[in-house]
Amino acid sequence: MTARGERHLKGEREFIVLGASQEASLGRRVFAYGRGCTLVDVDGREYVDLAAGTMTQSLGHSHYEVVSAVAEQVGALTNVHDNPTPQRLDAARALAQLLPEHLGAIGFFTTGTEVVEAALRIAHANAEPGRTRIAALRRGFHGKTRGSRAAVQWDIGTEPPGPTLLGYPAYCYRCPFELTYPSCDVLCARLTVKQAIARPDVAALLAEPIQGAAGVIIPPREYWEVVGKACAEHGVLLIADEVLTGGGRTGEFLASQHYGLEPDLVTLAKGLGSGHPVAVLAGRPDLLTEDTWSAVGGYSSTFGGSPVGLAAASTTLTVLHRDDLIARVRELGLLLADELSTVAEHPLVGEVRGLGLLHAVELANPTVVGRVFQRALDMGVRVMPGGSVLRIAPPFLIEPDELVDAVRRLGRAIDQVHREDAP
Ligand SMILES: Cc1ncc(COP(=O)(O)O)c(C=O)c1O
Repeated sequence: MTARGERHLKGEREFIVLGASQEASLGRRVFAYGRGCTLVDVDGREYVDLAAGTMTQSLGHSHYEVVSAVAEQVGALTNVHDNPTPQRLDAARALAQLLPEHLGAIGFFTTGTEVVEAALRIAHANAEPGRTRIAALRRGFHGKTRGSRAAVQWDIGTEPPGPTLLGYPAYCYRCPFELTYPSCDVLCARLTVKQAIARPDVAALLAEPIQGAAGVIIPPREYWEVVGKACAEHGVLLIADEVLTGGGRTGEFLASQHYGLEPDLVTLAKGLGSGHPVAVLAGRPDLLTEDTWSAVGGYSSTFGGSPVGLAAASTTLTVLHRDDLIARVRELGLLLADELSTVAEHPLVGEVRGLGLLHAVELANPTVVGRVFQRALDMGVRVMPGGSVLRIAPPFLIEPDELVDAVRRLGRAIDQVHREDAP
């Protein structure tokens, strides 16, 4: 850490809980600005941002079209509660071009956790009497407010675990049943159906089609065939939490589309607004009706549907569609997978996996994740640490050479930690 950064951190320590996230406390970098795929810290050091902000900067940092749309909107109108505005219609139209047709009803919110809460309210408002429970998957992440935490039974202090039913994700690398795909016959999916879905008291399954925070857990196709079919058969609504995967990151606008899944409700946030707080609940029109609207007290919130956020979202989505960036994600995803296949051979690496521009390097020994992350930062590459994995999710506009070079640097960081620990 160099002089200005150190002084800044010292100043912040007087007021702020340092390192709100694992990444910030490990990284201790003070970022000054971002351009495209590059971040620059207050000491002038550059980093290739393979985490795209918080997987928010699909178009990179400070994309000129987003900057100019936001600047114009700030000067015109910032907040009129949830009243209709031209920006809201533009954002809805831009979304409709990208969303599957059956998700014809849209509501705007601000954050991922807020939109998950809204989806849960809608699920309960539509449920038959007696269907009061929510099912979710172990290791899932849906946000930090009480309802979204309760879904995964993430209890804090004296708060008891949430009363949800938990199924199993297809975490093949560390399979809790010590089985191997395909001979396992997707036991995780079948148990999920038996224990969490085939019940008369369940209103909805809230699940990430590809779990992100858990370490990019990509189920085989059969997993969602079994679980998705069971939801339909047992009258359980499927809420696909695509806060992280939605917006094109996996090479389809929704990760659900890789599986031919037709969720009843979908939550979206991170990649929509180029870093501005915009979240979307998209659902079947027969679920988001006047009746449910009044039952849940409306879909509005103070900042939900802010014209500035929506100007950012409609510009981001328009560029995504106009420039066919999801096709670019697929192409760059193949390049990334190819480059990571070399990293996968390193003895510290347990597995690499990914889809589109969402990949994970799972380290065999989770305790060294933080140090690999720090060494990579020292080499000018920012990835996202979490549990036993480093996640790689660059902006969609990254240049192929830049991507290959950054992954090679990450490989060198892994090797450096390996050498530090050599006897
Ligand atoms: C799948 C998923 N749902 C919900 C959230 C919560 O979003 P936010 O941090 O905007 O509340 C996240 C955040 O990472 C997420 O990955």
